[in-house]
Amino acid sequence: MPAFRTAAGKASQRIMPPDLLSPKIIPPPGGRIVILTGAGISKESGLETFRDAGGIWSRVRVEDVATPEAFARDPERCHAFYNMRRARHRAADVQPNAAHQALVRLEAEWPGEVVVVTQNVDSLHDRAGTKNLIHMHGIYSQARCTHCDHVADWPGDMSVADRCASCGQTGGLRPNVVWFGEMPIAMERITAALTDCDLFISIGTSGNVFPAAGFVAVVRKTTKAHTAELNLEPSAGATLFAEAHYGPATEIVPAYIEGLLRTARLHDS
Ligand code: APR
Repeated sequence: MPAFRTAAGKASQRIMPPDLLSPKIIPPPGGRIVILTGAGISKESGLETFRDAGGIWSRVRVEDVATPEAFARDPERCHAFYNMRRARHRAADVQPNAAHQALVRLEAEWPGEVVVVTQNVDSLHDRAGTKNLIHMHGIYSQARCTHCDHVADWPGDMSVADRCASCGQTGGLRPNVVWFGEMPIAMERITAALTDCDLFISIGTSGNVFPAAGFVAVVRKTTKAHTAELNLEPSAGATLFAEAHYGPATEIVPAYIEGLLRTARLHDS
């Protein structure tokens, strides 16, 4: 595998005009890029984040709506919470933004593999057109039957009266999302990608929820990959990244991807 053009340096946290963003290290052509995204990438599409001032968890308690115990205790309350979020997601003004689209462009133009791992349960990456996508926390526009595990698309409201199309029972349908205390999806595939990647980019996540918050440490421990954080503000794990850029995702993500592709092309010619 070709060597990196420079060695991973000290963390640099630069605030630059977005059109000047240029990655410090470009992975070799054919290298694998893993991207982790969080709620911040969908914020400018009109969806709320969790932990920013006024975010979802400042108004609703996790223990009331996002644990298996909460669903067992009061399923209608959990359904009401996800019905509200699904309704917002269906609104005409909620569309993939320039950051989602930049990742589609990267997947199309990068001469190697790009894997997008998202913590987001919205479908904005899917709607933008990202193909190699892992929804590690599931997706809220699907229902999963707790009786028979059947998964079905479910864009509308869900309630305890709804019947599973596969086993025919009522009362078992839940949003197909990963709640606190449950195992994220596809961890084996994610770990394989992380431990054999050349560039890891974290976008729009506060770095508070594991295992995703620990991905940068996994990459640092098991690879020589370059690591970059693109976020509105430093995340909880900001010091673990070799490079960081702060600003709105719709500005810094397209600028960073443009810089990455442009520099890769220059080095290639
Ligand atoms: N552009 C870039 N980043 C942004 C923007 C923006 N326009 N707006 C907010 N952010 C950043 C915030 O500064 C914050 O660091 O996005 C991050 C969002 O953090 P959280 O709200 O904690 O969301 P996330 O990290 O995705 O949460 C992880 O927690 O509750 C669970 O399951 C839920 O998947 C979620 C997980």
